Order: sequence, then C-alpha cells, then structure tokens
Amino acid sequence: MKTLHVDLGERSYPIHIGQGLLQQADLILPHIHGKTTVTVSNETVAPLYIDSVHGLIEGIENTDVILPDGEQYKTAETLGKIYTQMLQAHCDRKTTLLALGGGVVGDVAGFASASYQRGIHFIQIPTTLLAMVDSSVGGKTGINHPLGKNMIGAFHQPQCVIIDTDTLNTLDDRQLSAGIAEVIKYGYINDADFLQWLGQNMDKLLNREPEALAYAIYRSCQHKSDIVAADEKEAGQRALLNLGHTFGHAIETGMGYGKWLHGEAISAGMVMAAELSREHGWLSDSDVAGMRSLLNKANLPVAPPAEISAERFSELMSIDKKVQDGVLHLVLMKGVGESIVTSDFDHGALQKVLARG
Ligand SMILES: NC(=O)c1ccc[n+]([C@@H]2O[C@H](COP(=O)([O-])OP(=O)(O)OC[C@H]3O[C@@H](n4cnc5c(N)ncnc54)[C@H](O)[C@@H]3O)[C@@H](O)[C@H]2O)c1
Ligand SMILES: [Zn+2]
Repeated sequence: MKTLHVDLGERSYPIHIGQGLLQQADLILPHIHGKTTVTVSNETVAPLYIDSVHGLIEGIENTDVILPDGEQYKTAETLGKIYTQMLQAHCDRKTTLLALGGGVVGDVAGFASASYQRGIHFIQIPTTLLAMVDSSVGGKTGINHPLGKNMIGAFHQPQCVIIDTDTLNTLDDRQLSAGIAEVIKYGYINDADFLQWLGQNMDKLLNREPEALAYAIYRSCQHKSDIVAADEKEAGQRALLNLGHTFGHAIETGMGYGKWLHGEAISAGMVMAAELSREHGWLSDSDVAGMRSLLNKANLPVAPPAEISAERFSELMSIDKKVQDGVLHLVLMKGVGESIVTSDFDHGALQKVLARG
C-alpha cells in the first residue's frame, strides 16, 4: 500500500492506494469519530462492494442510502432523498458519511456531507479510475442544475480517501480508458517523465495489472494534491487541471450528455489544445503526433466528432468564457509536460483548429 498526504493545514488528509484495502478496517476506523455512519452508493456499485464496506465498520450503527445509477441523478432531488434518509435514521453532526462509487456518487454524497447539519465528516471510497485520480481528491462536491452542470456545490474536504485498486476489476473497458485520459492529462500538465512511463506501461494499465494501476493512481493523486494544496479554491494554478476541458465540455454538450464519456471528450480536447499550441509554435508536429499515439494506445478518441461545426464549437466554448468574466482562458502547452493557463492566444489560430474538427 502507498499513502499520500494532501497538505491543507487543519484539513489535511491521507489517500491510501493499494489492493485489498476494502478488507483493512484499520485504515478507515481512525477517521470515524461518532457512533454512526451513512454509506451512500448506487444500485450498480452497492451489490459489488457494500458488503466489504459493512465489514470495515462492524459494530458501528450504519444506514445505507442507495441511489439510482447515472449522471442524470446528480440532482437536488437526489440530494433531498439523502437528507431525508439521514434524518429518518437520526444521523447527527457526528455521523460520518462514506461515499462508495464513481464521481457521481462522490460529488452528490460529498455535497450532502458538506451541507447536512452545516457539514459532517465524510470519507471517499472511489471505485472508478476517474474518481480515484480526480474527483475524490480536492474537495469539490456538488450537483447539477437543469441550467448547468456542477452549478451548485461546495468545497468540502474528506477525512481520508481509500482507493482499493481491486474494485477496478469490475469496471468496463470504456470507463477504464476514460479514466486513463485524466491520468495522461497530469503528464501533459507538468510531468514529461510520467508520459514516458505511460507510453511504456499502457498495456499493463489496460490489463489492470495492480502494480501499474497503483503507480499511475499514486502519481496522478500526487499531482492533483500538489495543485490543490497550492490553490485549494481555484484562484489560479488549479485551473491547469482543466487541460482539454474547455474543448471537451463543448464536445460533451454538443453531442448531448452521455454520448461521449467525459474522459473521451477530454482526450479529443487535449489534442485540440495541443494543435492550438502547435499553431503558436510551442509544440512540434511530432509532439502532437506523440500525444495522439499515447491516447490511441489507451483506446481514446483523438479528434472531435465531425458533427460539431466550428461555429457551434465557438458558441459552446463561449459558455466557458461567461464563467470567466468574459475572457476565454485556455490551458495550452508551452512544451510537452509544460502547461500554462492563458487568455493570450491567437483567435485566428483557434478558429483554424476548430474548423479542422
Ligand atoms: N469533484 C471533482 O473534482 C470532479 C472531478 C472530475 C469529475 N467529477 C464528476 O465525476 C462524475 C463522473 O464520474 P465517473 O466517471 O466516475 O462516473 P460515474 O460515477 O457515473 O461512474 C461510471 C459508471 O461506472 C459504474 N461503476 C462505478 N464503479 C464501478 C465498479 N468498480 N465496477 C463497475 N461499475 C462501476 C457507475 O455505477 C457508473 O455506471 C461527473 O459527474 C463529474 O462532474 C467531479
Ligand atoms: Zn475531467
């Protein structure tokens, strides 16, 4: 087992990564202070792993809340159901919430814990690769609103994160690859050595070799936690985590949510960011080809869908612009493993990249 610490002063917490961690009660028990827990999961993940979680907290009074599966349930209505079941079970301010599942469960359950009785402790037990390397670390919690994704939420850090790599054995191949897109993203943000390692070990990751998975997750969480520790509330540097995301969000929205997985859209989005960086002379043709080949190896898309025109792309990307005081900021690459956040890019070059899609 490997352990990392997210360094946030009083709100610091450990991330444990390894095989068989859902059998190790000593990792979780020190973080449960009251006499009660609520375990939030969904109807897909609960049948697979909730018994193991129950085994970890034997003797503690626990209530299960099982949500329907899907991003469409990351809503205020679901949140209301969690509150209701917690109130019915007499959960109090000392109750600890355990979030068992992918990013959807982590986000909505995390927000329930941020707001129930003004905030209770929670523990993340992520079971998708995306949740392990991204959503379970950093304290962003929330739900969707009919008018926008992730529009309602709070920063609320967990007490600890428990990553049992064995849970990835039941994840389908497409979800695994989507998670690998976010892993590759960390390499392009600031870790060229990691990119090299990923190039050499992609088959092992796709074959779910535990050592390779644990290493990739560890290194990804290290990057995420370093960035979060430096900029918890996203005043600046944390925006680097959005590499490929402005383009990717446009793909997700443009295609209709659910058609492309988030990680797939991010994969094509990173290629578009790389192409724009090449237009500025910051990346070479072979750098861009190298990115395509790595993403290809991970069975990820390397171009946006032809259905989205350049005009539609611009329109969709202006949503991100509105979020940033009217100026579009993009994460671009000054070199391989050297990303920057900038609003200073050539708009003609951007149009050229969008038109290629
Ligand atoms: N809070 C953050 O910082 C942050 C960061 C990135 C993404 N997110 C959010 O995360 C969500 C996406 O997360 P996701 O990709 O994990 O999707 P998800 O939670 O929908 O999980 C994907 C699918 O895999 C299933 N599943 C989960 N674990 C499994 C397992 N071990 N075996 C078999 N099936 C399993 C789920 O039930 C679901 O059907 C989005 O809502 C996104 O907004 C949040
Ligand atoms: Zn993402």
